[in-house]
Amino acid sequence: MIEALLSVLPTREAPTDADDADSHGEADDGDEGRDGGEAARDTDRVSVDYDPAEADGTETVPEIPEIHQTVVTPSSIEPEPNAVRTGDQWARTLWTGEYPDRPRDGLFETLYSTAATRRTDISLHLTPRDTTATLDTLENTIEDLEADREYLEEKRKAGARGVAKDLEDYQALYDALRNTSMSAFDVSMYLAVQGDSPDDLNADGVTNTARQSPTNLTPVTPRWTQLDAFVSASPVGVDKLNESLDTTTPMLAGAVGAMFPFVAGAFAEPGIEYGTYALNESPLILDRFERETGYCAMVIGQLGAGKSFSTKLQLLRRAMYDQDTVIIMLDPLGGFAGVNGALGGERITVGGTRGLNPLELRATPADVLQDVPDLDPWAEQLSWVLTFFETFFEHVAANPLGDRKQTLRRAVQEAYERQGITKDPSTHDNESPTVRDVIAVLEDLLDSPEQFGYATDGEQEKVRGDAQTLLTDLRPSFREDGDLANLAQRTSFDLDSSVLYLDLHQEEGATGRSETSLMMQVLFNAVYERAKGTDKRVVFAIDEAHYLLNDATSLEFLETAVRHSRHYDLSLQFITQTGGEFALTPEAKTIADLCSLTLIHRVQEETDTLAEWFGLSEREVNWVRTAKAGDEEEGFSEALLGIDEEGWFPLRVRASEFEVDQIDPADG
Ligand SMILES: Nc1ncnc2c1ncn2[C@@H]1O[C@H](COP(=O)(O)OP(=O)(O)O)[C@@H](O)[C@H]1O
Ligand SMILES: [Mg+2]
Repeated sequence: MIEALLSVLPTREAPTDADDADSHGEADDGDEGRDGGEAARDTDRVSVDYDPAEADGTETVPEIPEIHQTVVTPSSIEPEPNAVRTGDQWARTLWTGEYPDRPRDGLFETLYSTAATRRTDISLHLTPRDTTATLDTLENTIEDLEADREYLEEKRKAGARGVAKDLEDYQALYDALRNTSMSAFDVSMYLAVQGDSPDDLNADGVTNTARQSPTNLTPVTPRWTQLDAFVSASPVGVDKLNESLDTTTPMLAGAVGAMFPFVAGAFAEPGIEYGTYALNESPLILDRFERETGYCAMVIGQLGAGKSFSTKLQLLRRAMYDQDTVIIMLDPLGGFAGVNGALGGERITVGGTRGLNPLELRATPADVLQDVPDLDPWAEQLSWVLTFFETFFEHVAANPLGDRKQTLRRAVQEAYERQGITKDPSTHDNESPTVRDVIAVLEDLLDSPEQFGYATDGEQEKVRGDAQTLLTDLRPSFREDGDLANLAQRTSFDLDSSVLYLDLHQEEGATGRSETSLMMQVLFNAVYERAKGTDKRVVFAIDEAHYLLNDATSLEFLETAVRHSRHYDLSLQFITQTGGEFALTPEAKTIADLCSLTLIHRVQEETDTLAEWFGLSEREVNWVRTAKAGDEEEGFSEALLGIDEEGWFPLRVRASEFEVDQIDPADG
């Protein structure tokens, strides 16, 4: 029914009064004054063509039923042998000739939710049967079958076995009706496949889906009676085809019950809509901060699948749902400007000369330290700083850290100690050292390793050698005019605004993948450190997170951050692309496993990997493979949402006109 209902509801392409009223309702939450102004302007635009002076007395204002008729019916209906044309659309209606013997609960789920039936109306006509009359008919049928069987058995015909089987079925039906409170129905079922042209009608796809297990239906296309079939499938509610053909099949109530989609529970709790459940279009509403296993989310999908859009929609809805949530966005491609503007956020363009200190450490709140005894902020910080350097040496200096790691670790520890920072959490409020301080320590190490406790000649020689090459690699990038000079300075921006957009937009386009990875790491850490300090809930969305997740060196650090994020009321959302140059990495899997929400948009190339990673069923894999990529024209995308401890839900993600305007402003 859904498609048919949608087609009569006002759409974005053809705005009507009702549509306007809708978007005003939503705007009400935000800006009252502006809304009032628009309403006034709307009235100015209204004009009426009817001029009483020119009326000749035959014209009348349409009656309400006539107006309704124009809303619910197509402008014209033309029957063809195999289809019906309704205005701009085409429909081919299939009738269900046969049903499975033993219907399983939810046997139509695939039929309701696969891509092939996306534009198919499914209609069931159910007429209760009078039990006594049905029993009489069944008695007659059973007697006939018994006679047939006796005759065939006497003649030793093979057909006797088939008849015996039918007889058993009818007897079982008879017993169930007679001895239990079970009632029977006459059922007919239609599938109206819609399309924009006769070629666009995917009747074969729908037929195949209907034939497959567990649905096991046999659909038939009634030729030359398409109009009657179409009426039977329409919301009019009349089984028109049944008047000329017997279209019904008797069924017990249990079988009828199994056909309904509502047996599968949708998910709804106070929160925001993540999409509508594809099985029955009911909204899937949830609050990420209510998940027991953590608040992090992973969004996966190929280029253009709708990942960024659905994330922005979630952020917008989150902000409307709870204005206290701090929202932070990180994106190397500049894509969050619209939603950031709509939320009145601060935009910080990262790069250039603005200081950003990778060594920065922030104090962990006392209550968190108390609640989580095994938390070790010092070890975490050291691990992060070494990750940062490892990435730098590997990708920027192109000389992996290797066995120089211990020497560097010693130098880093010393740099913190010189600022009075140690393992003791109460020292973490002190001003953090910078890469320049580490360079100063390395110079001292080179001069006099013995003062750092390296006792033997061998040790001293090794440490001198390490310090020498470390300095050679570090200095060019971190000197005053070096390419990473901004990373050698104190951080010169706060992340105090309640909405913040870290725009890692690479203006010249000259910045390579490894620099982007490094900057993403540093920014990730900076936000993470700050999220620790605030009492508020923080949603931190990281777009193009494959730059973070394609690098094994950062895995340990990211893993720890994700594991501990819950203690800081921090929800990390990683958006990662698959396909093309970005293969799904083992790092992405490790992080996804730690996330309580996984949203998989359209993926074609690597569905087998996803199936294996997440234990997806064939049906779920198929949904992902055929999911609709984001599309402004169609106004929705499709995805599969995995909620920890709840299961997987096929979704359609749809934004209201108001929301679309906020996410992707036309002037943006
Ligand atoms: N649910 C949706 N409704 C309307 N338009 C959408 C939807 N999802 C995506 N789009 C549009 O499709 C295009 C690609 O979506 P995007 O989110 O940028 O893809 P991805 O981030 O996966 O590469 C964008 O122009 C976006 O506006
Ligand atoms: Mg994107």
